[in-house]
Amino acid sequence: MKDGRHLTMGIESSCDETAIAVLADGRDLLSNVISSQIEIHTLYGGVVPEIASRHHLNNIPFVFRQALDDAGVTLDEIDEIGVTAGPGLAGALLMGTAYAKAVCLASGKPLVGVHHIQGHILANLLEHQDLEPPFLALVVSGGHTHLVEVRGYNEFKVLGATRDDAVGEAYDKVARVLGLGYPGGPKIDAIAKEGDPHAHEFKRVLLEKDSLDFSFSGTKTGVINYLHSEEQRGNEVNRADVAASFQQAVVDVLVEKAMAALDLTGYKGLALAGGVACNSALRHRMAKACRRKGAKLWIPSPIFCTDNGAMIAMAAYQKARLGLYADLDLDVYPGLDLETGLGKLDK
Ligand code: KG4
Ligand code: ZN
Repeated sequence: MKDGRHLTMGIESSCDETAIAVLADGRDLLSNVISSQIEIHTLYGGVVPEIASRHHLNNIPFVFRQALDDAGVTLDEIDEIGVTAGPGLAGALLMGTAYAKAVCLASGKPLVGVHHIQGHILANLLEHQDLEPPFLALVVSGGHTHLVEVRGYNEFKVLGATRDDAVGEAYDKVARVLGLGYPGGPKIDAIAKEGDPHAHEFKRVLLEKDSLDFSFSGTKTGVINYLHSEEQRGNEVNRADVAASFQQAVVDVLVEKAMAALDLTGYKGLALAGGVACNSALRHRMAKACRRKGAKLWIPSPIFCTDNGAMIAMAAYQKARLGLYADLDLDVYPGLDLETGLGKLDK
């Protein structure tokens, strides 16, 4: 029974999860169905775009049905449908947007185009209802590493970004060379708990003074070179020590840059977002650094850090409140920019 609630559906298919959620009044999550393809892509050591698209195509009608059933609502009761239109894999994005547009065309529901990273950031609102813009966010995902000033629910200013690898990408590449498999982030996080974070001093790249940009490729290459040279010499490596030391280097940089961003902007709190925000060392060290600074820290539960439909529903709800809807000819934008690209999604 709808009971006068405002219901938003969120559809996410930008990478390897087919995910749909229903959110009531931008506050109560009624369902959050995530169909992960991780086991399939693990066989290939990473996401294979063509395979991802095919699986989205097969899964999406079932995930859609399940999201409505779990929420105990009918499509008729949904007020708007939000969908990720970029950035991400073109074929994967097409599956979600084509499905959302078809449902909107058939039902007459309004469509909302959502930027995937906007979704990751606004995932913080799902559990922290006290949080409202403006605030500072650190986005750490498989494809993005950004320090962002969240000026409004649909207005973002990028203060710093990676100049090479995203953090999650560096985790995944190091994990592959360590023989830990895909996705590497959670595997490194787990094995690092058994290792010594000070066993190796891998490179920390801080760039120019006052720069809020990041660079992780030097750290990653340092680890990979070390592993290759030990292998050539026939030496055994302690993988837990390498994982823990790599993680220590990465987290040192993330914490230092985040603290610098708080100092430079004067914000008194920071929100974490994206898959790498699941990382136990990052969560722990960032909490400690924020406490020391007297700053607040918001972190979504792990299920809302990695790709999910709830974050897309939240972003869509906020956009709908601003009257920002998409046309039914909404395109997909694999390289969509967070600062200037948002307007491309709206009528
Ligand atoms: O946000 P997300 O689900 O997808 C993108 O938008 O990219 O992030 C996926 C990334 C992967 O690189 C994965 O290895 C990383 O998040 N990740 C982690 C952890 N859990 C997921 N990285 C470090 N520690 C974790 N516990
Ligand atoms: Zn993501």
